[in-house]
Amino acid sequence: MKKVLLDSIKKYKLQIILHAIFIGLNIYILTIPPQLIGNMIDLLYNLEENKQAILNNTYQLLAICVIFLFIRLIWKSLETYVVRGIEKDINIKLFQRFLKLKLQNIQNIKNGEIMSYFVKDVNEIRAGTYRIMTYGSRIVYTFIIAIYQMARGVNINLTIAVMVPIVVAAYIIVKIKKYVEINFKKAQNKFTELSEYIQESTDSIRTTKAYSCEGEQLKDFIRKNRIVRQSNNTVDVFSNLLSTCTKICFGICYAISLIYGSKLVLDGKITIGDLVTFNGYIGLFVNPVNWIPDLISRVKRLQISYKRLDEVFKLEVEKVNVKENIKTDKLNGNIVIKNLNFSYPGIIDKALDNINIEVKVGQTLGIIGTIGSGKTTLMNLLTRLYNVPYGKILIDGKDINEIPIEVLRNNICYITQDNFLFSTTLKDNISLFKEEYEDEEITESTKKAIVYDDIQNMPNGLQTVIGERGGDLSGGQKQRVAISRAFLKNSTILIFDDTFSALDNKTSEKLINNIRELSQEKTCIIISNKVSDVKYSDKIIVLDEAKIVEQGTHEELINKNGIYYEFYEQQSKKEESMLA
Ligand SMILES: Nc1ncnc2c1ncn2[C@@H]1O[C@H](COP(=O)(O)OP(=O)(O)OP(=O)(O)O)[C@@H](O)[C@H]1O
Ligand SMILES: [Mg+2]
Repeated sequence: MKKVLLDSIKKYKLQIILHAIFIGLNIYILTIPPQLIGNMIDLLYNLEENKQAILNNTYQLLAICVIFLFIRLIWKSLETYVVRGIEKDINIKLFQRFLKLKLQNIQNIKNGEIMSYFVKDVNEIRAGTYRIMTYGSRIVYTFIIAIYQMARGVNINLTIAVMVPIVVAAYIIVKIKKYVEINFKKAQNKFTELSEYIQESTDSIRTTKAYSCEGEQLKDFIRKNRIVRQSNNTVDVFSNLLSTCTKICFGICYAISLIYGSKLVLDGKITIGDLVTFNGYIGLFVNPVNWIPDLISRVKRLQISYKRLDEVFKLEVEKVNVKENIKTDKLNGNIVIKNLNFSYPGIIDKALDNINIEVKVGQTLGIIGTIGSGKTTLMNLLTRLYNVPYGKILIDGKDINEIPIEVLRNNICYITQDNFLFSTTLKDNISLFKEEYEDEEITESTKKAIVYDDIQNMPNGLQTVIGERGGDLSGGQKQRVAISRAFLKNSTILIFDDTFSALDNKTSEKLINNIRELSQEKTCIIISNKVSDVKYSDKIIVLDEAKIVEQGTHEELINKNGIYYEFYEQQSKKEESMLA
């Protein structure tokens, strides 16, 4: 995170320096009107003689106003350019980081939390940077320039006297700010919980409606909202206390200036014009001092958000293996899995136990098994979504860890069990945003995936925008749209993980025929719980509790009279009863 921020700051170095220079000029110009007004007051004692001088002062005041507005426009533009630029840079780097993170690390972060990194934390860093750049530099410049002008141009003792309440205000601020920080942290955590809850509720809206739980959800939401409100209220109470204290200190400042200043006038040490100028200078401190609490709390908020983002940047990314030394773009697709054992990080039970498989180019491997037996895990390892132990999975005789990850994934088309669809056009969903494919090729792939007619019936064909996560499509349509990706991508190794479950037998039979045609010179892996989906495979393995318990062709497995035969019997009976 440090590098991301520093890189961004370096990028806008020139603009940041110019911004600081123009803010300095701005503050210097602000000290001129009190001097001019003070002068004018003194000149008023002899109006007839000083008419021209008063008029000149008025023209100078007008000119100062114009210059002030011009300079303000410049530093405001620089500020927006830098702050929005830093926000954009962090957003892009953060998104890139999420894309590179190891799958298990992403799975450990809840969706709502990911959203709050982008929406809340990046925004806090933007707002904090803006406050430091503008408020911070204005506070520093005001204290240096205005105190110098007050002490040099009016009276040093009067200056020291009015600075006392300001120092007291700073002390009080430091004391109260601690409570603001603690409560702000609490409020931020509550807000994250609330956004996670909103995300989860919108994701599960269908289930909620189906079980009529809207009332309970609303009650729960109101309760959580109340907690967020209470936490924010506490933060506001302390913030208000801070600003009230600074306002009281200011009142005392003006009182000292008037009482002590009048005495100095009566003693002939300063003129009335000087006293007016001095009060004008005090006015310059009003905004900067009032900004101090906000600046402190914003800097603290920035630090908290910085730490949260830093934790994301510290999470482990998918490693580019040092041994990824194989220089090839194309794999043939001969897969050998030898004595593979695997457990998910932090879990003792094996998800895969001593797996041995061999599949050659042109062959189809069917995998059938009980729920949770490790089918998807095996495919996650074949695509290196998790770290694979060395020497256990070989493709074309090479260890999978030595094949560059992008080469491996370019050569595999993995239609996953969740068949995720993006809320965009069907065309982009099938081509996965790659522009190299012609419309005809995409249409052809939809025909092979038997979803062409469904798409033709949609209002804009391939250009139809589908709802979030494919919400407008039926389960079967979603699966076939996802399967179209395999016909389009035309990879060496094709994996279909439970992608026919929502299809009727006739459609899945036709589809599997098309897949067999496509995969004649490829390696194809079909995972399913239905015997009818895997029965034509050259080799079928049966998984149960992380182990291969049977393997062979459909006929061999039927003759074994084991688990596979049981599946077959149960499913045949079910079909017969449905037909009856
Ligand atoms: N990310 C994960 N972290 C921890 N354990 C996991 C993870 N994913 C799966 N598992 C566990 O690993 C085992 C195998 O899961 P897997 O998803 O591979 O089964 P499956 O055979 O594909 O099941 P299904 O038929 O339901 O798709 C299960 O016990 C599951 O709970
Ligand atoms: Mg699975």
